[in-house]
Amino acid sequence: MSAVLQSGAATNETDAALLCEVECGLNTSQPDRSRHPVRVLGFGEISAVLALETLPEAKEWVFKRLPVFITEDEAAAHIELTARYVDTITRHIGIHVKDTTYFSVRPREDLAVFYAAQRMLPADHIGSAVLRWAPDADCIALFEAVLNQVEKVWEFNRTNTEGLEIAIDLQLSNWAVLSDEPRPRIDASTPLTFIDITTPLMRSNGRELLNTEAFIRGCPTLLRWPVRKFMAEEVVSRYYDPRNCVLDVIGNCIKEGREDLVPAMVESANAFFARKPASLEIAPFSIADVFRYYRQDALIFIVFLALKRLDRFIKSRVLRQPYDYILPVHIDRHFPWSNKPRARRT
Ligand SMILES: Nc1ncnc2c1ncn2[C@@H]1O[C@H](COP(=O)(O)OP(=O)(O)OP(=O)(O)O)[C@@H](O)[C@H]1O
Ligand SMILES: [Mg+2]
Repeated sequence: MSAVLQSGAATNETDAALLCEVECGLNTSQPDRSRHPVRVLGFGEISAVLALETLPEAKEWVFKRLPVFITEDEAAAHIELTARYVDTITRHIGIHVKDTTYFSVRPREDLAVFYAAQRMLPADHIGSAVLRWAPDADCIALFEAVLNQVEKVWEFNRTNTEGLEIAIDLQLSNWAVLSDEPRPRIDASTPLTFIDITTPLMRSNGRELLNTEAFIRGCPTLLRWPVRKFMAEEVVSRYYDPRNCVLDVIGNCIKEGREDLVPAMVESANAFFARKPASLEIAPFSIADVFRYYRQDALIFIVFLALKRLDRFIKSRVLRQPYDYILPVHIDRHFPWSNKPRARRT
């Protein structure tokens, strides 16, 4: 990328033109066969995080891609909201976020793709990777470090006088440790950076500022109507509910193959709730609660992915239209039938 993007400053035209070329040549079903081959570092429900390692200017960057907007105005509003969200969590709440540059790329008349570019962090520093290499005590400390960060968000929600409310997705894959060491020791005060900024959930006087309608477009076609009618409100509210967010982080350890950490995390979470963080009264939960929550979450994920694949087949093979989302090829997702954690697999 150009010198402007390297300094983390505002969008510049050369970078935007390059991203537009990348987007126009993107093969969403086989990203590594795109005109500029793409490596997918992570999948969200709708977004994907891309590395463009064959482009020398882009080698040190990651690109968070969100292909849900139709008009340039919609994408511009999302850029503005993301910038406001990041400004609030960094300056007013005190959560670290790496410099990010936003782009709206328009490959077709009916599509505006949002991109957020960030410097690539060392793979071992991402929270979900820490679970694979760090000692158990450090994994639990990482979880406690995340709880310390979210307490600041809840305190802000309780005390700010502008009627603002912020939600953040606490999953460990959304945080990275800030360190110069390749594999640092981690304790509950280890500095973290928050990386998952592309779903800026923010309410102003009770009104959701995120364009949820655009995000519903990212749902499988068959589910769009029921999601809009019955679930949209609930799906979004889950992220504002402190107890649910903490259940979600612990549940994700099952997905990451570390269900052996669940008991210690439940204990830590309950000790944290007992302190009444941000004056909140949060009911303690059990290991079984985490497993039940995770099973429901995993089931929704499996159904959504199957329906999205069906959408892709119909759109690209039957209707011969472009399909804009990048879907995971293979998901190694353990589905636990019992509420008892298995020992760590070696
Ligand atoms: N700056 C970065 N450097 C290195 N890897 C990154 C960076 N940002 C993201 N990643 C990788 O991509 C994964 C997903 O990133 P992120 O949480 O930002 O997006 P997402 O989960 O797709 O978004 P969402 O949850 O909003 O749909 C991370 O867990 C990490 O592995
Ligand atoms: Mg994420």
